[in-house]
Amino acid sequence: MNDEDAYNDNNTMDRVDDNNSILPPITRRSTMKGLATTGASNFFASSTVTATDNTNQSEGSDKTLVDTPPMGWNSWNTFYCDIDAGLIKDTTDAMVENGMKEVGYEYICIDDCWMASERDANGDLQPDPETFPNGIGAVADYVRKRGLKLGIYQSAGTTTCEGLPGSLGYEEKDAQSFADWGVDYLKYDNCGEHCGLSAIERYTRMHKALEATDRDILLSICEWGDNDPWMWAPEAGGNLWRTTGDIKPLWSAKENLWGNGIIDIIDQNEPLAEYAGPGHWNDPDMLVVGVDLPEYPNLTEVEDRTHFGMWAMMAAPLIAGNDIRNISKNTHDILTNEELIEINQDPAGNQAIRIQRTTGQDGLSRSVWTKKLANGDRAVELLNCSDRRTTITTSAQEVGLDEASCYVARNLWNGTNWQTAGLISAAVPPHGLAVFRVSCGNSDNTKPLAIVLLSANEETVAPGEALSQTVRFTNYSSIAVNNVRTSFNSPGGWESESTTTTFNDIAAGPAVLGVSDAQNDAETDWMIRPSKDAMPQECELGVTAEYADRMSIEESFTVNIEYQS
Ligand code: GLA
Repeated sequence: MNDEDAYNDNNTMDRVDDNNSILPPITRRSTMKGLATTGASNFFASSTVTATDNTNQSEGSDKTLVDTPPMGWNSWNTFYCDIDAGLIKDTTDAMVENGMKEVGYEYICIDDCWMASERDANGDLQPDPETFPNGIGAVADYVRKRGLKLGIYQSAGTTTCEGLPGSLGYEEKDAQSFADWGVDYLKYDNCGEHCGLSAIERYTRMHKALEATDRDILLSICEWGDNDPWMWAPEAGGNLWRTTGDIKPLWSAKENLWGNGIIDIIDQNEPLAEYAGPGHWNDPDMLVVGVDLPEYPNLTEVEDRTHFGMWAMMAAPLIAGNDIRNISKNTHDILTNEELIEINQDPAGNQAIRIQRTTGQDGLSRSVWTKKLANGDRAVELLNCSDRRTTITTSAQEVGLDEASCYVARNLWNGTNWQTAGLISAAVPPHGLAVFRVSCGNSDNTKPLAIVLLSANEETVAPGEALSQTVRFTNYSSIAVNNVRTSFNSPGGWESESTTTTFNDIAAGPAVLGVSDAQNDAETDWMIRPSKDAMPQECELGVTAEYADRMSIEESFTVNIEYQS
């Protein structure tokens, strides 16, 4: 019998539930075995790897516990050590009742601090008797009965990061405890003394110990990317591996605050796309969407969307870190955006690649990302890391789609289907992210894609003084448009007038970037003026363009009314 047969022979087992009835067989953990017979040779021969395109690879692969990135919740990002069995049970209930389970969230993970400060006389780990008085097994039962799975935390060192007993030297005992308790997921950290052992040795030990139990327990390697885990983690039995230090609810790192911000992590995770794929994922750390910590600035709603959209694109594990017992509507809408979750859980398992990046004079970047999906569509994201509203443009060709007479770009935040001849463009707010699913051809209910661009997004003016604003309408659809009407939406007291308000014969958009004579745009100048007795204030103003069949698009800008000395 060769290794593959041995694996295939072994890869299912009967499971017995609490009432001793037989449940359907589940697939045995097969990370390395699966890779050894399918993707392993590719995986390590990086010169030939096109792991950013797993589209054809996944079909023949063995099933693993994590064919798609794991989804769940973890206690650390909000609660740190302030955890107990009640919190875990209430969070389980919340996940079932608030719809998160229904859209795919599955693991409820207890992070550091669940254990007592000492092992018992047999050397076994003990749950903290005050916070988990009935043990971890009772919590696992509760979670399982609600149709979810339990995750737990340990460290591949003498202690955990909070100084509690670690698993180094106790791997077999601890793996058996986890299996006995009914744990399904182990986050395995890197704190404590390592006693001269390399990371690969320490993580392999735990992998083997887990394999020796009769339970499938997913292994999440958490060594913060220190030893390039993407090079060895699958071999050491890791289903996913952290690629960075700890995330915090920050846009970018700040000198006086510990931890990484969202864009720091995106930059660190970006070059690792080739290592991600079904059964083995880069882990840029758990989500901080909706996390509210007094010592951190926390993310704005726009930044929360950017964070979630980018994690979905990067095929990252979606492990929520907020208090889901008290979840706001905005946070809930973001975490349960089913079309973005579908992008994240796409069976091809490709991690998005960055195909365009420009850095402005402000030193901040605007970038375009594409992810090839199993059905041939592309998920496309336009990421604006700057502090100014910016129009970002790419094309179907640039994101990797075949030539077609037109394309549909579906906006995954609001479900609008835009028809385009080839270019995909959006005005993206500061720290914002536009997200599209782009496919070849046309479909029902599409709107011709067009944008409005203004000469300035922010202006300062004195009361009664005139201000000019150039409005450019650009048509990206595959049909010419007529009768485009622009209007200036002035609050009371403002005057406005324009050179022209209506355009005709605006040609169809080009198929590719860089065509300068497409004649698919038109411009008009507006003069606007606040009244003489306007008070100093910040005003949000807008321009609307109406076109095609009752289509209307808007662009806004800010004017600060200030007295001038
Ligand atoms: C490390 C990990 C975190 C968290 C803490 C717990 O910092 O990277 O995600 O698990 O330990 O102590």
